[in-house]
Amino acid sequence: MKFFIDTANIEEIRKANALGILAGVTTNPSLVAKENVSFHDRLKEITQEVSGSVSAEVISEDAEGMIKEGKELAAIAPNITIKVPMTLEGLKAVKAFSDMNIKTNVTLIFNANQALLAARAGATYVSPFLGRLDDIGHHGMDLIATIAEIFDRHRIDTEIIAASIRHPMHVVDAALHGAHIATIPYKVLEQLVKHPLTDQGIEKFLADWNKANE
Ligand code: E4P
Repeated sequence: MKFFIDTANIEEIRKANALGILAGVTTNPSLVAKENVSFHDRLKEITQEVSGSVSAEVISEDAEGMIKEGKELAAIAPNITIKVPMTLEGLKAVKAFSDMNIKTNVTLIFNANQALLAARAGATYVSPFLGRLDDIGHHGMDLIATIAEIFDRHRIDTEIIAASIRHPMHVVDAALHGAHIATIPYKVLEQLVKHPLTDQGIEKFLADWNKANE
């Protein structure tokens, strides 16, 4: 499983990229709104920093509008992926982008039929939202497993991005259940590194070293 970061904050993206593990970035309109910057300028900055896929979401609700917006976004850099909501209009747009060789990430996936439809329309990625399913009392992780099994059985090469990740267990479980990618907020990325025994171990090694070299 690969790691994407789920943010439009350039500092967080730079910090994550410096770790050498970053395969891509996902943004959404809520994340961009928090930044108070021009969307296009920020996408340019991000694509200069990260060579992997950078998802940029369209806000139109009709296919024609999505296609127009998506073409403009895709012109910013070759690694832009157009994020399209899972609707009937969204599917039409995904098919059109696929015919233009523009990569797509179908977002707001909450059941396996939505994922299968998106894949058949030509989506490069599908994004099932784990945290938001957990929030309403469903097992988000079951959805990852079901989609992974369907894609595997039918030899579908659309990649599954585990999205709406809230904590480290989501990440390890997404890997175990067959997600190809987890898109993670920076805060969770930092949490993945931490273990109290690692900290204690470093402290002890340093104390022993200093004692021996007094
Ligand atoms: C994914 O691409 C979305 O941007 C994101 O993971 C949504 O997460 P949230 O449910 O925490 O807003």
